[in-house]
Amino acid sequence: MADANPFYITTPIYYVNDVPHIGHAYTTIAADVLARYRRLRGREVFFLTGLDEHGQKVQQAAAKAGIDPQAHCDKLAPQFQTLWQRLNISNDAFIRTTDLEHKSIVQRYLRELYDKNLIYKDSYTGWYCTFDERFWTEKDVESGLCPDCKRPVEQLSEHNYFFKMGQYQDRLIEHIMTHPDFIRPESRRNEVLGFLQTQKLGDLSISRPKSRLSWGIELPFDNDYVTYVWFDALVNYMSALEYLPHGKPIGNRFWPANVHLVGKDILTTHAVYWSTMLMALNLPLPETIFAHGWWTVDGEKMSKSRGNVVDPNQMVEQFGADAFRYFLLREVPFGQDGDFSERAMARRVNSDLANGIGNLLSRTLTMIERSYGGTLPNVSKDYLNGEAAEGKYPLLVHAKNSLLTLGDQLDYSFRDFEFNNLLLHITSRVSDVDTFIDQHKPWNLAKDQSKREELSAVLYTAAECLRILSLYLYPVMPNAAKSIVEQLGLTVDFESPLLKEKVKWGEVQSGAKIRKAGALFPRVEVATSDSIGLGIKEKATVKKTDLSGEGAKLVTESSIPSQPTAVAPIPTGTPLPTPPAAASVASPQITIDEFMKIQLKTAKVLSAERVPKSEKLIKLQVSLGAEQRQIVAGIGKKYEPDALVGKTIVIVANLKPAKLMGVESQGMVLAAGDADVRGLLTVLEEVDPGTKVK
Ligand code: MSP
Repeated sequence: MADANPFYITTPIYYVNDVPHIGHAYTTIAADVLARYRRLRGREVFFLTGLDEHGQKVQQAAAKAGIDPQAHCDKLAPQFQTLWQRLNISNDAFIRTTDLEHKSIVQRYLRELYDKNLIYKDSYTGWYCTFDERFWTEKDVESGLCPDCKRPVEQLSEHNYFFKMGQYQDRLIEHIMTHPDFIRPESRRNEVLGFLQTQKLGDLSISRPKSRLSWGIELPFDNDYVTYVWFDALVNYMSALEYLPHGKPIGNRFWPANVHLVGKDILTTHAVYWSTMLMALNLPLPETIFAHGWWTVDGEKMSKSRGNVVDPNQMVEQFGADAFRYFLLREVPFGQDGDFSERAMARRVNSDLANGIGNLLSRTLTMIERSYGGTLPNVSKDYLNGEAAEGKYPLLVHAKNSLLTLGDQLDYSFRDFEFNNLLLHITSRVSDVDTFIDQHKPWNLAKDQSKREELSAVLYTAAECLRILSLYLYPVMPNAAKSIVEQLGLTVDFESPLLKEKVKWGEVQSGAKIRKAGALFPRVEVATSDSIGLGIKEKATVKKTDLSGEGAKLVTESSIPSQPTAVAPIPTGTPLPTPPAAASVASPQITIDEFMKIQLKTAKVLSAERVPKSEKLIKLQVSLGAEQRQIVAGIGKKYEPDALVGKTIVIVANLKPAKLMGVESQGMVLAAGDADVRGLLTVLEEVDPGTKVK
């Protein structure tokens, strides 16, 4: 194995103090997508994830469970491993910091630094936070609370060993300045740089007296102490290369790592502690440390005490692994915070996946089935060379070219960790192919024998576009990609470097038998006893039916009667060649009485401002004539707040107030669009605010 172009990507190693949650799944999925993409591009990938099994948090969790810490870790580790299998995580190795090999490598590093005089013993007095396992200085602590977790701190004085971190301050600043990709996104890089340029970097306490914490790796030069959990944990990125996978060292050709993916809360430990440790060990620094944002849940911080911790296993059961992977990466730009809700997830699945790629596959296969008995039609050589098509079918050539140039665009998005843009590019190509089909109206061509050649060209093109789309979708949705090619009757080996060379046109095989299966992404319904869903906590469930019929492009609508949301999507859609029976199944009819329960009113926007830390939410103060309301609307991607002031809009006036990202919303604005807002509803004539709309 002498590939000159290795790619090493890591996730943080997760504490085994509890079962995995959405935050763990998020980083691991993102890393998996990058690993899969780089493999498709022909790189030799080493993708590492694992568990951080030492330290106070784990010791406390074990004590609470009344078991020995190792037994506790052994019990929890499979929960992570099983989840990674369910989520289709393709890690090459799984490290546990209680592995004997890891422990001895940590001790070797400690010894090396000690022998080099880079570790010394000293006494230290400071404010200690047991939860974060760290000391704070006087000026960090406010009202006796930890500045990080806001728990009470206690004054502690003890002897400890210190790593001479402070002496690397200037070198680290220099490194960050000369390596713009070292810390990403840029805002985080500036934060770290700002801190290093304005504050003195102290030395790092890297030990804990055994009397206080016994669950750790013993210092090789003083057996009264164990090493600080971060010193142990960070070394995993190097130690794994020495003994994993399966005891086979893979050598140092993978170091430095290309990407350490981490959450924003653990950027300092990586960018500062780890970097200076590496400098002290004379090892090169990783190419990129990327810090992503955090998920809140239904606008609230996720926590056990709130009971809103999202279990990824349940999401896989409810929506499928691919849909969950898609949602996490599509919903918010990687690097920014996002809000998770089952409703938002259901909406994405329906609008982007069921109505998008799923429907495109289904309608293409249905037409091939009806017009060609399920065999992919023949197209002429001229067509494949693009010559005949050029003059005759310009739309077809457009569809083809737009897919053939997609690869370069996507490559930029992958390099820049812009997963949401990446998926936006792909879904917009899906709609291009849909539009191309609609424009050629193959259901009409099928009725006219003289149009046979055009019909073959259109259906062949649709199938070929689907094949190419599957290659690009594979890193994010491996199951769906495999299913697309299988249903097209193709055999594609996704383990091979399919994107090493530029994608070629014409690899769908004429004459292949399609194998139509069930819906790629079944639409998601919301089970609720109240069909208009006011004030009812809904659960999204998957409806296992394939709703798309011949030639049908489903109306893109939200079939989810919802709790107060930021914006109510109004059904929008393209005219249907054949109205799908499915559309009515997807949105159940309501009676006039039910409709009359909804009070719609005009409202005048008095002021508008963005909700901090949200790309989408805008807080509006609106007048309903006699009263004033505050409404939070998810229209921030479409509108600048200033553009809304003075406008007369339409709102749902009798919606129970709800909090969005902690801000109260007393109603909901109406807008056209699906997951993405296209336009706010307004009225043609000048009317007073507070006028009833019916
Ligand atoms: N064990 C350390 C990491 C050591 S790496 C050498 C650790 N573990 S952790 O289990 O507490 O957290 C792991 C990751 O989960 C962090 O990257 C953290 O940012 C991420 N998340 C925890 N909650 C999260 C959200 N609510 N949203 C997104 N990610 C979050 O820290």
